[in-house]
Amino acid sequence: MELADLSAQKNSEFGITGYLLYLDGLFVQYFEGDESPVEQLMHNIRHDGRHEVLQEAGESRLVVRRFPTWFMRWLHQEELAQVKLARDLALLLQSRKQMESTIWEARLWLTVERIVALDQKLKKSKDT
Ligand SMILES: Cc1cc2nc3c(=O)[nH]c(=O)nc-3n(C[C@H](O)[C@H](O)[C@H](O)COP(=O)(O)O)c2cc1C
Repeated sequence: MELADLSAQKNSEFGITGYLLYLDGLFVQYFEGDESPVEQLMHNIRHDGRHEVLQEAGESRLVVRRFPTWFMRWLHQEELAQVKLARDLALLLQSRKQMESTIWEARLWLTVERIVALDQKLKKSKDT
């Protein structure tokens, strides 16, 4: 089974939601859920020999899920382009080492919010 399918299946079992995208040879993943499954998944991913975790950023308190229906949605570049995010995100990933880490992380969180906007846009286009 593919990574995305397998992940989605496990995530729905453990109540993990979020997204995964691939850009310029790097994965960018966001996930949210209860503390214990989130920590377990973080542990699994850190120890997954298929890749190396380059950067982590986390929030300990999230009252409302950002992506309640995405059990690890695979985001395609064309979708990112819809919210003009593909290029910005690629530039942000490239500047990872040149920027002060708190500023870099703040910018990374802004991309999460833009993907929330993308989710809303996708929902709207489905309704109409
Ligand atoms: C980029 C990337 C993203 C992943 N995302 C998830 C995920 O969202 N959920 C998940 O269960 N496993 C994910 N995995 C797989 C985990 O690293 C790990 O293989 C899996 O959780 C182990 O499950 P198991 O203990 O049931 O074999 C991901 C792996 C990679 C390389």
